[in-house]
Amino acid sequence: MSEQPVMVFQDVTKVYPLPAGDVTALDGVSFQVDRGEFISIMGPSGSGKSTLLNLMGCLDIPTTGDIFISGTRIGDMSDIELTNLRRDRIGFIFQYFNLFPLLNIIENVTFPMMLKSQKAVDPEKGKEVLRSVQLDDSLFTHTPTELSGGQQQRVAIARALINNPDILLCDEPTGNLDSKTGAGIMDLMTELNRNGTTIIMVTHDPHIAEYSRRTTRIADGRIVL
Ligand SMILES: Nc1ncnc2c1ncn2[C@@H]1O[C@H](COP(=O)(O)OP(=O)(O)O)[C@@H](O)[C@H]1O
Ligand SMILES: [Mg+2]
Repeated sequence: MSEQPVMVFQDVTKVYPLPAGDVTALDGVSFQVDRGEFISIMGPSGSGKSTLLNLMGCLDIPTTGDIFISGTRIGDMSDIELTNLRRDRIGFIFQYFNLFPLLNIIENVTFPMMLKSQKAVDPEKGKEVLRSVQLDDSLFTHTPTELSGGQQQRVAIARALINNPDILLCDEPTGNLDSKTGAGIMDLMTELNRNGTTIIMVTHDPHIAEYSRRTTRIADGRIVL
């Protein structure tokens, strides 16, 4: 089963109907991402990158075409199955970290475990993942605003990894960090990928895209070569 591609798009379109006329954000997109890949998706503003990432993360559905995640066609899944898929197989990392400001670091990281299990979550698992993203133990009981941007992004990465997802989806993960801190985050992602995590990253920064092993370009909602 592990030979299944983690992500397949088959002739996917996404059309947003607007009063002024339909906007075709994705126009016949087909591609495949195999397990263990580290792929970056580059394209100018408005080219469809966020739309693509939202569809990959099952946050939205295509207008036409098919999407398969680890062999399952998402069009065949119920809302509950989609919710479980998002929770168990997909980790998200965003430009603005999106941590819960009132929860401490361990609570932030173990939150997706709470969604999964009715039982009390084991904080040790949270600590283990936080250490794996090189966050110092002394920060574990702090709240996000007490951390630097780079530290916050490490927490967000730990949270994305806590349920052992098949895929890590990243939308401009270093877009809000200075270049040195961003390089540290990219080194971490490179290490995660070496250890087997499949990573799909959207960026408009060619230096950041260089960390990936394959770059796909998108323009006007189409994959370009
Ligand atoms: N929710 C929406 N409603 C209407 N149009 C949208 C919506 N989201 C995106 N679009 C349009 O779809 C196109 C692609 O947008 P987007 O995927 O956000 O591109 P990118 O992330 O590359 O900047 C743009 O023309 C944008 O205006
Ligand atoms: Mg975008």
